[in-house]
Amino acid sequence: MRYSVVSTSLNPKSRSRVLAVEAVRLLEEQSEDVGLIDLAAVPLPLCDGGKCYGDPRAQEVKTELARVDGILMACPIYNYDISASGKNLIELTGRDVWTDKVAGFLCAAGGKGSYMSLMGVIGSLMLDFHTTILPRFIYTTGADFEDGLLESQEVKERLGVVVNDLVRYTEKLRG
Ligand SMILES: Cc1cc2nc3c(=O)[nH]c(=O)nc-3n(C[C@H](O)[C@H](O)[C@H](O)COP(=O)(O)O)c2cc1C
Repeated sequence: MRYSVVSTSLNPKSRSRVLAVEAVRLLEEQSEDVGLIDLAAVPLPLCDGGKCYGDPRAQEVKTELARVDGILMACPIYNYDISASGKNLIELTGRDVWTDKVAGFLCAAGGKGSYMSLMGVIGSLMLDFHTTILPRFIYTTGADFEDGLLESQEVKERLGVVVNDLVRYTEKLRG
């Protein structure tokens, strides 16, 4: 099975990118085809519902994501939702990427109170594209990190569970 982890934060000191990189490391233990897409390194146009779809960077990201079987999105939580960059990625890529795929989420938030922020994007992916969403996700706050590194043992263990879930669900759905 082929996997992609997308880091959607545009912040150079992103904590969700740390989760993405660790997820790639864990996935590489289970698959020879694992990629990391860092949106901070691939500036995408904002979706305008028209000419954005012809943008070479948007097409490149779409081609790569269309190729894989399972996707993890590493997301900052902004205003009780994933950040605009993550939503923009979904708008730019659409059904060719998300239909009948498995997707999971790795979140970095400022506080515990926003833990239900994923519900909107999860519902949209399920209803619009029939994406199979992993029922466990990673939700972290600043307290789980120290000096830019993931320190929480609990989150590290849960990340292993989420990565195993991604592989397990993807093999069942796409194998
Ligand atoms: C514009 C903005 C909105 C935010 N909104 C929320 C929020 O609604 N809930 C929350 O817990 N944290 C919020 N935060 C804090 C971020 O989730 C936190 O900084 C997180 O580390 C961002 O992910 P990143 O480090 O991967 O970029 C917000 C931060 C910004 C800049």
